[in-house]
Amino acid sequence: MHHRRRIYEGKAKIIFEGPEPGTYIQFFKDNATAFNAKKHEIIEGKGVLNNRISEYIFTQLKQLGIPTHFIRRLNMREQVIRSLEIIPLEIVVRNIAAGSFVKRFGLEEGALLPCSIIEFYYKKDELDDPMVSEEHVAAFGWASSQELEEIKALSIRINDFLSGLFLGVGIQLVDFKMEFGRLWEGEMMTVVVADEISPDSARLWDITSGRKLDKDRFRQDMGGLIEAYQEVARRLGIVNENEPLRPKGPTLVK
Ligand code: TMP
Repeated sequence: MHHRRRIYEGKAKIIFEGPEPGTYIQFFKDNATAFNAKKHEIIEGKGVLNNRISEYIFTQLKQLGIPTHFIRRLNMREQVIRSLEIIPLEIVVRNIAAGSFVKRFGLEEGALLPCSIIEFYYKKDELDDPMVSEEHVAAFGWASSQELEEIKALSIRINDFLSGLFLGVGIQLVDFKMEFGRLWEGEMMTVVVADEISPDSARLWDITSGRKLDKDRFRQDMGGLIEAYQEVARRLGIVNENEPLRPKGPTLVK
């Protein structure tokens, strides 16, 4: 299927060489993993939905003036992205207690946090992505203090924007994970948002029912993952590939 050179294969995506210099192709797989791939399943259609949802979110971020690696979507499962030097950190922003945060601090799932909290994890599968402090980041040289300040400022802006975006369609942004990279243009370096933002990497709850519309449905064996991701896409107004792009207008009754 692919004639392009494979650069890297992760748990949910594959990176191929891109059509132009300085670009890659990001391919979204249907693989769902949790607990560092100890739990694994193929969920048909997940990659297609994440490709569309992430495209939508990254396009919105661009309109806000936030630099991302996204260039354009190629097809159902692929997008063209800028090649970056990935900063080996996973940045998690939390608004409501859930997941590992609940376990770590003995909180009730769903507790509203007094303010948004940013956490850093060192991206290293062999070590199960340990949580690290800013001191670790500086000491090991994973990012400079200037880069870290930029990452934190961008993270808060993105969280504020996405919280509002999802609230507008009746969804609570509980928490989400981001990755950043360095984009070099000559001597100039910009910190840009990379990877994906999708229901795989965020917790999204329906505001009225509390229904989980994210990968926790897989992590917690709840079922209905595709239906939940479709619901997110539908509410964001993302049209399915096999649906007409524009609904037929009203027809004149004679
Ligand atoms: P956590 O509560 O398990 O630490 O997850 C926090 C957020 O980060 C949640 O929205 C899911 C996302 N996440 C990933 O995208 N990848 C990961 O490997 C992990 C552990 C979490």
